[in-house]
Amino acid sequence: MLEIVNLSKAYSVGAFGREKFYAVDNVTFKIEDNEIVSLIGESGSGKTTIGKLILKLIKPTSGKILYNGIDISSFKNLKEYYRHVQGVFQDPYSSYNPIFKIDRVFEMVREEFYASTSQNEWRNRVEEVISYIGLNPKEILGKFPHQLSGGQLQRLLIARALLMETKFLVADEIISMLDASTRIDVLNTLIKLKETGLSVLFITHDLSLGYYTSDKTVILYRGSIMEYGSTEKVFNNPLHPYTKMLLESVPTVHKKWAKSQIALEGKIVPNGFCKFYDRCPLGDTNCKNVVLKEVEDNHQVACVKV
Ligand SMILES: Nc1ncnc2c1ncn2[C@@H]1O[C@H](COP(=O)(O)OP(=O)(O)OP(=O)(O)O)[C@@H](O)[C@H]1O
Ligand SMILES: [Mg+2]
Repeated sequence: MLEIVNLSKAYSVGAFGREKFYAVDNVTFKIEDNEIVSLIGESGSGKTTIGKLILKLIKPTSGKILYNGIDISSFKNLKEYYRHVQGVFQDPYSSYNPIFKIDRVFEMVREEFYASTSQNEWRNRVEEVISYIGLNPKEILGKFPHQLSGGQLQRLLIARALLMETKFLVADEIISMLDASTRIDVLNTLIKLKETGLSVLFITHDLSLGYYTSDKTVILYRGSIMEYGSTEKVFNNPLHPYTKMLLESVPTVHKKWAKSQIALEGKIVPNGFCKFYDRCPLGDTNCKNVVLKEVEDNHQVACVKV
């Protein structure tokens, strides 16, 4: 289980870096074993920042992340941590070294983590895993990355995680560069992987992909959680005005959201107010010091009107 507890990440901005901008602001949620959780939010809402914090690529400003109860900042041995927790990103090509054949990627996993496994035995395992994710090893091995499709490369990254016996995968917009039919293959591979005990944080700006894939959904807005709970409940009974707005605009969900959305006329967000205040039709002076509260089992909403 991976727990994110009061996690914040601030960047210094403005002249001389005197101002703080919270890319992630006091976020708390968890991903249980064998669970896929979607982290959904528009561009700039802090999704990748949360992914990077989980992958220890950046350090939190405050709060913590617990992996099976252990604060990940105490993992000094990164190799040990990355055996359990891995990331797959948007652009599959950037994750491969173009001068190495795919075989080399898998061989490096053996050298790094399974040095005592013989090359023959390893080859069998690699072929088994490639077949498991729905690809033909004969068509894959011996090729260079540029000879494979984006969907194949993305699935091979998942195969690599499987070989490493990864327990937790951060999947950040992994299918946004793929065409529709390949997308479903990659999504189904992820869902299938759950059977092997994998948990996934599935980062997306696409509501329908989140709905299709995940057990739970986190709706993020300007670095804060607006709504969180079972995907069924969040989608079928959305309670936050922001979630409602998103779901009402469903025909356009495949479009990448624009970063700056229009505020209601003349409204700004005063300190301590709900981040959605300037766009919320229900916004009034009560909309401050908002906390995420449980409205029913497995369903939390951060809105004073709910
Ligand atoms: N190193 C940095 N310095 C300053 N600001 C940063 C830095 N990295 C990210 N940010 C800001 O933090 C916010 C969140 O960025 P993040 O990449 O997490 O968004 P995102 O939800 O993944 O968006 P997208 O859907 O476009 O990938 C953005 O406003 C971004 O400009
Ligand atoms: Mg991102």
